[in-house]
Amino acid sequence: MSWMSRTRVSLLALCASFVLLAGSCSHVSPADRDIQYLIGMSQANLTEPWRIAMNQEIQAAASHYKNVRVIFTDAADSAQKQINDVHKLLDYGIDLVIISPTDAKALTATVAQAYEKVPVILLDRAVEGWDYTLFIGPDNWLLGNQAGKYIVDLLGAKGDNVVEIQGRTNSPLVVDRSLGFRDALKKAKKVKIVDTIVADWLRDKAEDTFLARVRKDPKVDVVFAQNDTMAYGAYLAAQKAGLTGIRFIGIDGLPGPLGGIDLVKRGVLSATFTCPTGGKEAIRYALDILTHQEGIPKKIFLRTQKITAAGIRDGALLGASIVRPMANPKRRIVLGYAQVGKESEWRVANTKSIKEAARKFGIDLVFVDAKQRQENQIAVIRSFIARKVDVIAFSPIVESGWDDVLNEAKAAGIPVILTDRSVDIRDDSLWVTFMGSDFVEEGRRAGRWLVQHLNADKPVKIAELQGTIGSAPAIDRKKGFEEVLKDHPNYKIILSEGGDFTVEGGRDVMRKFLRERGKEINVLFAHNDDMALGAIQAIREYGIVPGKDIVIVSVDASRGAFQAMIAGTLNCTVECNPLLGDQLMKAVKDYMSGKELPTRIITDERVFPAEVARRVLPTRRY
Ligand code: AHR
Repeated sequence: MSWMSRTRVSLLALCASFVLLAGSCSHVSPADRDIQYLIGMSQANLTEPWRIAMNQEIQAAASHYKNVRVIFTDAADSAQKQINDVHKLLDYGIDLVIISPTDAKALTATVAQAYEKVPVILLDRAVEGWDYTLFIGPDNWLLGNQAGKYIVDLLGAKGDNVVEIQGRTNSPLVVDRSLGFRDALKKAKKVKIVDTIVADWLRDKAEDTFLARVRKDPKVDVVFAQNDTMAYGAYLAAQKAGLTGIRFIGIDGLPGPLGGIDLVKRGVLSATFTCPTGGKEAIRYALDILTHQEGIPKKIFLRTQKITAAGIRDGALLGASIVRPMANPKRRIVLGYAQVGKESEWRVANTKSIKEAARKFGIDLVFVDAKQRQENQIAVIRSFIARKVDVIAFSPIVESGWDDVLNEAKAAGIPVILTDRSVDIRDDSLWVTFMGSDFVEEGRRAGRWLVQHLNADKPVKIAELQGTIGSAPAIDRKKGFEEVLKDHPNYKIILSEGGDFTVEGGRDVMRKFLRERGKEINVLFAHNDDMALGAIQAIREYGIVPGKDIVIVSVDASRGAFQAMIAGTLNCTVECNPLLGDQLMKAVKDYMSGKELPTRIITDERVFPAEVARRVLPTRRY
């Protein structure tokens, strides 16, 4: 039953039962008959200013559509209440639900039940698994990392004492912000984190705990708090203790009195980093989902922005990205795409997806294959700049070495979209958005599968076939895999080399591994399926059985990998989705029509062990 066909009676019933914001149903007007989409919004609490801002943003964005109505519920920080709220919303026949979970773990089953009935958008916190339509949230690691980089720049060569104030213990977002922060500080040897305080996101708790800390030891130069409210609490404590000269840095950057922007203007905070609520994006994507648009990603991470007093003075509050709507929206968009090469089954599928999507979306694509060489890719991008294409997209073969050419693109006013692989560049205004996989997570998934599958307490010796050395997938998959192994010290990587993501590379390096330590290897972790397939040939030549004598896990989930699993020579493949074409074209169109793009757009991916290979193979599209 569609919302259109329901009676106003249910809307009146809703009014009695839910928290409704301005513009909603304190009265049911004839205009309610125009409502085509009813959206439920289940909010975790309305005590945090950031969440109030999220609801207001949703309401404001929805008010632009005459045919949309949003019903809000407030879980008052209780997971049980939120579970009930979601079920109530579903009972009222909503067309889509937005959930910002109190406790992602406790809500996982409810989210999955809702997803069986309607599309589900998760805001701010993702639940485990994949049973939802779309996640929208901040990149918490990046937020912490940017704050850390800012502090390193602020302090320069001079060493200083930093106190970190965290939100609630054991919350994944607290961990991510802290890890990003610590990673940024690693290279600045003289900057020391002298204390970590937990203040549960609350101003008063931050004030009390920081006051106790500085009364014991006042030697603090910088405070980094994981939100502005706690940074303000620490500032008040410093005032009480009569301390001057401490610099305070926070996260959130909310507008309004005592919001982060105001605190920067008043000189309380040296800087804050905006943590977008995702409210307006939730409504935008809700409408895209409800109108069955193509190219909807699985996860999007929103752009953050540094706010300092100087930035406010210079009017630099509107974001680093260049949003440049086309002068003539009827003219076809020209997109230049610099592809890595043809090294793998994955890449071939990726190219096909991009070409097909360009045709489908009516975009003129100038596609060039850089034949696995960075210098070719740079030359191709320069040719796109000379040709004045509207947008440039590329999958960077390696992470570093792009500063000059991307500065040239920026100077020419041409936006750059990174697809599949990211770059390691300090100035993130040189690219508009990244879309592709979470390679670190792929490495973790391979590691987790291995540890569960073997369940071994004896030593396990692993050979690792890395992808192209210096490329994002090689760096990140290794990192994610090693992160899991850290908790299992009996699992050891004894050999690790690059095989360039090709069948030949995998085969040749595996031959060498086997010559060197063939008798010892228990496991092979290959950074892609093609290298695993090459290694399987080498293992056979060596006279032992791939998939049995050596357990093999690889990444991509290509058809070749499924066939190998059915043949029993490969044990598991972790999906890396190459079908990025629709998402890329949607992003290009959105961008060119003046919409702001998120900073990262992540695709939907799974893990496929050999047991499911026969059943799943017919559904594989690459
Ligand atoms: O960047 C994605 C990686 O590149 C794929 O995993 C690999 O097969 C490809 O060559």
